[in-house]
Amino acid sequence: MFSLDRNKFLKFSGTLMSLPLLGPLATFLSGCAGINYIQGVDFKNKTGITLNEFKIQSFVVLENAHFRKPVLIYKKSDAEFTSVSLRCTHKGCELDPSGNKLVCPCHGSEFSFEGKVLNPPAKDDLQKFQTSFDSEYVYVHY
Ligand code: FES
Repeated sequence: MFSLDRNKFLKFSGTLMSLPLLGPLATFLSGCAGINYIQGVDFKNKTGITLNEFKIQSFVVLENAHFRKPVLIYKKSDAEFTSVSLRCTHKGCELDPSGNKLVCPCHGSEFSFEGKVLNPPAKDDLQKFQTSFDSEYVYVHY
């Protein structure tokens, strides 16, 4: 009888001790939402991505044969989308979205989602692609 009470106490104590970690853990996990990689739909000289793809995150990563490296498509607002190559302008490594910027795993350059250099060694902004949209798709032109 005593050991059962002790077990319940230990479980309860363990639960209580973990509570302070839940807030930071939830914050950490929300920042780790998976990256949405998509192929898009081919149109003449452009690839379309449905607007629904931007409901969860403000960006998606487009990967298909029309582009040498993946392309980050960023929804800046309901009326503005941009798209940039994820090829680092320093020595060509593929950039990783991290928080609200793009980080190069090779030498640490950082870029904004709109392709501006934030931190060297890269000196040049990222390649941009013409981007347009209608009521159904965002289009990246090639
Ligand atoms: S290749 Fe990106 S910083 Fe060097």
